[in-house]
Amino acid sequence: MDVPVNETVIRAAVEESGVNDFSKATIREVVAVANKIEKQTGVEFIRMEMGVPGLPPSEIGVKAEIDALNKGLASIYPVIDGLPELKNEASRFIKAFVDLDISSESCVPVVGSMQGTFTSFLVAGQCNEKKDTILFIDPGFPVQKQQATVLGYKYESFDVYDFRGNKLKAKLEEYLSKGNISCIIYSNPNNPAWFCLKEEELSVIGELATKYDTIVLEDLAYFAMDFRQDLSVPFQAPFQPSVGKYTDNYIVLISGSKAFSYAGQRISIVAISNKLYNRTYEGLNRRYGSVTFGRVFIHRALYAISSGTSHSAQYALAAMFKAASDGEFKFIEHVKEYGIRAKKLKNIFLKHGFEIVYDNDLGEEIADGFYFTVRYPGMTGGELMKALISYGISAISLATTGSKQEGIRACTSFIKEHQYDLLEERLEIFERQY
Ligand SMILES: Cc1ncc(COP(=O)(O)O)c(C=O)c1O
Repeated sequence: MDVPVNETVIRAAVEESGVNDFSKATIREVVAVANKIEKQTGVEFIRMEMGVPGLPPSEIGVKAEIDALNKGLASIYPVIDGLPELKNEASRFIKAFVDLDISSESCVPVVGSMQGTFTSFLVAGQCNEKKDTILFIDPGFPVQKQQATVLGYKYESFDVYDFRGNKLKAKLEEYLSKGNISCIIYSNPNNPAWFCLKEEELSVIGELATKYDTIVLEDLAYFAMDFRQDLSVPFQAPFQPSVGKYTDNYIVLISGSKAFSYAGQRISIVAISNKLYNRTYEGLNRRYGSVTFGRVFIHRALYAISSGTSHSAQYALAAMFKAASDGEFKFIEHVKEYGIRAKKLKNIFLKHGFEIVYDNDLGEEIADGFYFTVRYPGMTGGELMKALISYGISAISLATTGSKQEGIRACTSFIKEHQYDLLEERLEIFERQY
């Protein structure tokens, strides 16, 4: 069977997968629908819904991990603060690529940035009882809102689309001036839209975090992956931009998953600013006795949640950080492939009447990377998603990410070489029909 796929087949797959509204379908639901249609019709799907790394893991990491296991480390509990080698290398890596001074004590390994944000939300929300709400600078990673819900925390959010540059300050103050925001979270580069907040925007976020005494969670899941600039040379500008230049109230999360293609081993670093690490809060004192933010984070929260991070994964990340800081491992070269794919894919979409939704960073054309966003004139995100499914193309609606724009997020990680021609053929037919 060819595209577009018969409407009855789609309806059956959608019903079976329990999707009522395409604009709200989760990634897993989209995967289920695409799998069912693929199986029934034999139409090969161009998979753009999942943000799973599609590249092999770094050999440096794998080797270090195997060596650690061969030494028999699997039987021993890891130290909860983290392996000293990793803590030291994380601190050095952050100096080398972000130009921030964060002590090794304040660099804490976690079971992926997912655990990092969960624990940060948890502790930030216990510092001050008046500050009981998380602020999301959207669009964002949907599971983080689920984390807030699991924790029983309130959250607020806004789509930054109309509030970039000099409009950001007033918008943030609208929320922060109420005095109830425990922390602010955003990802940079952004999942799903791949925009990158600029220094002037980070400086506003930092200034307001200090003014309203709130903690910034800077999620660098796509560390140094703004391929417009070369962020790959250690101890040399340009550096990965960070809010850490503009406030002391910050936590930076650096994930092994995407920049090092190490998602399966669940390893990440939570780097807490030295001042925040050593600070005490009345709310934490009441609950835990007199201990600092950093000690609560590690010895109360992380201890209760997972009692540390697997030894072998820590050795892997330590080896990758060390090789990168020594200038021996150009980790960014390995993931540039995503940018190459995005460029080709975006060109095909643009040729056939699509538009990029989040298309610029204060006037500069957006980077090519792991994700991009597209819309088709006259269609809502849900309608577009459904229409593309019948052309064997799967993606997620922007509505699920907190975006107020009508469009979809496409991920480049699963694209195979022969699929550019396939996409071209399919979008040509799509354009004729719509
Ligand atoms: C913005 C963002 N934060 C965090 C994560 C999860 O990172 P980890 O695999 O380290 O838990 C992802 C993964 O897709 C992400 O896109």
